[in-house]
Amino acid sequence: MLAGELGPGVKRAMEIIVALGKIYEAQDLVLVQSVQVAGVSYKNLGDAGLEFLREWAGQGAQVRVPTTLNPAGMDLAHWRELGIAEEFARKQMAVIEAFKAMGIAPSCSCTPYLTGNLPAFGQHIAWSESSAVSFANSVLGARTNREGGPSALAAAVTGRTARYGLHLDEKRRATHIIKVRCPVTSEADFGALGYLVGRRVEDGVPYFKGLEDRGRGRLKALGAAMAASGAVALYHVEGVTPEARTGAIVAAEAETVVIDGLDEGYAALNSPIDAIDWVSIGCPHASLNEIEEVARWLEGRRVKAELWITTAREIKGQAQQQGLVELIETAGGRVVADTCLVVAPIEGLGLRSMATNSAKAAFYAPTHSGLEVRFGKLEQCLEAAVTGRWPGS
Ligand code: F3S
Repeated sequence: MLAGELGPGVKRAMEIIVALGKIYEAQDLVLVQSVQVAGVSYKNLGDAGLEFLREWAGQGAQVRVPTTLNPAGMDLAHWRELGIAEEFARKQMAVIEAFKAMGIAPSCSCTPYLTGNLPAFGQHIAWSESSAVSFANSVLGARTNREGGPSALAAAVTGRTARYGLHLDEKRRATHIIKVRCPVTSEADFGALGYLVGRRVEDGVPYFKGLEDRGRGRLKALGAAMAASGAVALYHVEGVTPEARTGAIVAAEAETVVIDGLDEGYAALNSPIDAIDWVSIGCPHASLNEIEEVARWLEGRRVKAELWITTAREIKGQAQQQGLVELIETAGGRVVADTCLVVAPIEGLGLRSMATNSAKAAFYAPTHSGLEVRFGKLEQCLEAAVTGRWPGS
């Protein structure tokens, strides 16, 4: 591959893998079973990124393992209804075409594990998108570093990655023990906790004690928040996540952190605003259960603010079959596929304030999309969608 015998597209990919291997002093390469590629939105790529992808595709680069794509900058089917500019849409579709030319279907979701790209325990993979990386490593027990868009794509084209970091047993040991001494129940609570822990441990590996098992949706929120406020790519929860059951995974020198309240996390992620013109649910992308929860809450109600539930196109299809999309649309909300509030060009849509139950969304929205944010539980956000005001303000 490196000698160029399989063509210039493969040679370029292997050059990236080898360069990373040298930087991180990897002893060899490891075969990967699946890849998740981030860097799909034209908002982030710009013309330079689009050209890079086109050129690589033009050199004959083709993926050789199952590969999925992160969210794009718009709903690929309904972008006009969202108010996305024609020029942006044209460029976004050109990005998608470049990925398709490399053999990647436009799955466009940050929760590929909900739609068929579900790695097994111990499998080596090469994923980008920090929340997906965290979920794959921690909840599924697969093994991936936090890849960037180009390095993930290079792994997809070569079918390999350099064996370093979280591919190795010793790097998967916990660096911090997190003792949780307060109730953590809702998705927002898990997000607030993740925000606090991510800030504290940065790129370490936390091991949670005292955290009750409240299902994978909560773990999705926890991991996404830690990956945003810190750079956590792997965590363990005692009695819950797969590697935490095998024991001996806490490093001897691990530091202990006590969390006895979430108020500081909620305060850091909230602006003191009352009027809400947009409510965004589904960061990371919503599961079918989460869409159902929203649809049931909205039955018989009508929203005043713009309401988006962002999800994978496949999950939207399932929600449609169950009549959930219709329920949400009847209430005036939208189920938006392929995109999300951070990678869509929200700044051009005239929205200024947002409510969300996602700590990751609340963390990024002010800087990435110029929004003022209220962060709280799902019911508070839906209440805000109905009244146009943050509850209690
Ligand atoms: Fe996914 Fe976008 Fe949130 S990529 S994790 S919905 S910021």
